[in-house]
Amino acid sequence: MGKEWADARRAANVARLAETLADALVGRTDITFELGCGHGHWLAAYAAAHPQEFCVGIDLITHRVERSVRKQTLGKLDNVIFLKAEATEFLEALPAAIVLRKIFILYPDPWPKKKHHKNRFINADSLDLLARRAATGARLHFRTDDADYFSWTNDFLAAHARWQVTPGVEWPFEQKTFFEERMKDKRDVIADLAD
Ligand SMILES: C[S@@+](CC[C@H](N)C(=O)[O-])C[C@H]1O[C@@H](n2cnc3c(N)ncnc32)[C@H](O)[C@@H]1O
Repeated sequence: MGKEWADARRAANVARLAETLADALVGRTDITFELGCGHGHWLAAYAAAHPQEFCVGIDLITHRVERSVRKQTLGKLDNVIFLKAEATEFLEALPAAIVLRKIFILYPDPWPKKKHHKNRFINADSLDLLARRAATGARLHFRTDDADYFSWTNDFLAAHARWQVTPGVEWPFEQKTFFEERMKDKRDVIADLAD
């Protein structure tokens, strides 16, 4: 895939998402965001329990998003949408008037081999990008079963100028995700965005 072609495809994705989001988020100022929502178990349950929040879940994989949308439809939930989107494209397409108030990342792909660590979503650039689109005081919730990804994330957050790990905070809402059902461990990191 040539760079020009990849750039054009990205621009088209961002334009399509920007149009969808402008319609879906009209009149709103902030969202609760789940990155990599998988089959939507967690966010559909969270949205049902938090009718005052507007939730957006995204995932790269079409059939997972379709299952998520089914949960939204069956639950008649009017405060959550699920979209097929890549995270950096979504954040670029998010209307400027909307901020991320709460961010959830549950069981992201751990990419355990060292040569694949570059594929992990958490890194300095992605934390900057999330910080740019988040409200001051926004809370980032990260859960993994992978000990190495857990310490990796703590290290990147500790090195970041604005995200501050907040120890001792309880995970705010429990609902087993598709992947959590299959994992033996859970390790949580919660961080808040400073000015
Ligand atoms: C291991 S699964 C976990 C799914 C779900 N959170 C759960 O616990 O069942 C990770 C998910 O993140 C999605 N994902 C990975 N990178 C992504 C990205 N850059 N943008 C959006 N979704 C992404 C994958 O498609 C996959 O469904």
